[in-house]
Amino acid sequence: MRGGGLLTISTRHNSPENRVEVLFKDTGHGIKTEYRNEIFDPFFTTREVGEGGGLGLSVCYGLVSKNDGEITFETVTEEEDRENKGSTFTVSLPVAP
Ligand SMILES: Nc1ncnc2c1ncn2[C@@H]1O[C@H](COP(=O)(O)OP(=O)(O)O)[C@@H](O)[C@H]1O
Ligand SMILES: [Mg+2]
Repeated sequence: MRGGGLLTISTRHNSPENRVEVLFKDTGHGIKTEYRNEIFDPFFTTREVGEGGGLGLSVCYGLVSKNDGEITFETVTEEEDRENKGSTFTVSLPVAP
């Protein structure tokens, strides 16, 4: 969150599907429409050269997928809705027997 913001991490049990969900919600700048299909790609980054590698989300995607999980996101940019800008990433995992 360039420019600051609030990060809220919460967990819940999705009973109908018997999965555990972890939500990472921020009030940052959101993700522009043109980047939304690329954020999980290895080395995709919007940071300046030398500021980051673009591996964070692709590594998360790999780890979550390997464990029969899913990672999804919703995002709102400031241009779309000033009051509700930010992103929420949800990790959904099957409950261990
Ligand atoms: N919570 C977020 N809010 C806004 N943009 C994000 C968020 N998470 C990821 N992104 C976008 O996805 C890109 C890739 O993220 P990531 O794989 O973590 O690599 P990095 O952090 O090194 O850029 C980021 O550069 C950024 O553009
Ligand atoms: Mg990152």
